[in-house]
Amino acid sequence: MSHDRISATFDEWVRDGRAEKLEEHHADIVSQVLPKLGIRPGMQTLDLGCGTGWATRLLAAAAPGAGAIGIDVSAEMLARAEELHDLTSRARYERCTFEELDFPDGKFDRVFSMEALYYAVDLPRATAEIHRVLKPGGEAHILINRYRESPHSASWDDMVGLEMAFLGQDEWIALFSEAGFVQVDAERIQDSRGPGEESEFTPDAHCSDYTTARELHAAGTLWLRAIKGA
Ligand SMILES: C[S@@+](CC[C@H](N)C(=O)[O-])C[C@H]1O[C@@H](n2cnc3c(N)ncnc32)[C@H](O)[C@@H]1O
Repeated sequence: MSHDRISATFDEWVRDGRAEKLEEHHADIVSQVLPKLGIRPGMQTLDLGCGTGWATRLLAAAAPGAGAIGIDVSAEMLARAEELHDLTSRARYERCTFEELDFPDGKFDRVFSMEALYYAVDLPRATAEIHRVLKPGGEAHILINRYRESPHSASWDDMVGLEMAFLGQDEWIALFSEAGFVQVDAERIQDSRGPGEESEFTPDAHCSDYTTARELHAAGTLWLRAIKGA
């Protein structure tokens, strides 16, 4: 899988309107996790695979004087992030890849990512980069909806047309431990809005029927937490 192919795919998501729907899909999970990141005044957060940057802006607003940088490989996602940017927010957006983060060692207090890391073309390199750019004692908080304990997510690679990692919770934990993190754990959290009423269910490419929607909701989002040694 090449970065060019990922970039072209997500550029297209901007043009066909799919990018605009990501905030609504992911907002509830992000709103549950964000207050638990412990972002204090002045802290700097990196948002991996920021898309249109909505979560980057929330991370930047999490405490007085905090800041956040969103990175993404898709130029059109970043252009949309710039269009949506609120000039009062200490957020900014840069083009780079998970595998080659264009930042000095130890720059960030937190690394955050919503529904993006399984697209990495080289996951061990990406987790090594996350470890490198965190300060000692810094924390990574990675949220993903595609993982082995959520079996209905297995087919999403065919649906999106990109290769994606499909690891179990324990494999994700091992990956971050191998990157050097001293404490790694995971928890599954569910969208508090529930699976919705059957009468209101609308099939889409991610989910073709209501039973699948309920099972995807029940499996929830995998929240990986990894702490870099002090
Ligand atoms: C499903 S979108 C999620 C966007 C955003 N986090 C959200 O929740 O709205 C995944 C994003 O990750 C980016 N991405 C995927 N693989 C990447 C890589 N290897 N390096 C940088 N960005 C990548 C894509 O371009 C895309 O914008």
